[in-house]
Amino acid sequence: MKHLITTSDFSNDEILKLFNDAKLFLDLSSNKLLEGKLIVTLFFENSTRTRSSFEIAAKRLGADVVNLEVQTSSTKKGETVEDTVANLNAMKPDAIIIRHSECGLPNSLKSYVNCPILNAGDGKNAHPTQALLDLFTIMEHFNYDVKDKNIAIVGDIFNSRVASSNLELLPRFGLKPILVTPKEFRVVSQYKTVKNINKVIDKLDVIMSLRVQHERHTFTLSDDELEENTKKYSKKYCITKKMMGSRDILLMHPGPVNRNIDISDEMLEDPRSKVLEQVRNGVAVRMACLKKLILNQ
Ligand code: NCD
Repeated sequence: MKHLITTSDFSNDEILKLFNDAKLFLDLSSNKLLEGKLIVTLFFENSTRTRSSFEIAAKRLGADVVNLEVQTSSTKKGETVEDTVANLNAMKPDAIIIRHSECGLPNSLKSYVNCPILNAGDGKNAHPTQALLDLFTIMEHFNYDVKDKNIAIVGDIFNSRVASSNLELLPRFGLKPILVTPKEFRVVSQYKTVKNINKVIDKLDVIMSLRVQHERHTFTLSDDELEENTKKYSKKYCITKKMMGSRDILLMHPGPVNRNIDISDEMLEDPRSKVLEQVRNGVAVRMACLKKLILNQ
């Protein structure tokens, strides 16, 4: 039995096969591939896109979905997550999808279950389905010819699980990451890192903008300091039309977008922005992941 905890759980061949399936699912119409299967979602952290995307993916495949409301679950009565998961597993679901703020938790749950676990994000560690849908979006756009394409990952790299999963996955297919980040959010990396996007913008094929992950910051700022920092940050890192010019660059963001801090209103409307296409692709890619892991094919 296979799980999807990090992108390294799937080989490149498996991913290309997964993308073939995702292509077939792209119209997001319903089928009965997972009829009679039951999928449990357990989201201990906020989510709009990922949770609804997984639920819609499961339902489009004909599966039933139980969303455990963690705010009213027994973890609130002192039960450990491990025990909650072992109890859910005893009810024989066909897959468990989990998001939690603790890095490594989904991996440690593998020994408590008899069904696949899909990691929907663990702290700043990994968000494999996001990276898969990002790669799929890039692949589809460039007709699967992505070798040596330069992608700038812009923003709070240090705290972003989207960045870490993409940094594991994209280079495996020949993409060349460049990290664009203020020194506060820098990571030790084998990849070129710059503070100013203008230094590299002429060679970019893709920009992946990220949200500043305030909820993971260990420092606290007063409202005034936060406003001041945000102003300074957006001046340099917000992706605007002025910055992009007429360059043919694909603009991506995993959501939620902080408008005019991550990306300007104007650029979100621009045809180069693929933000909503990523959301649509996300359902198709998650359908393919559920099919692969539950049916083992
Ligand atoms: C991201 C997440 O939760 O990791 N969003 C998502 O899943 N689409 C990124 C974020 O919260 O900024």
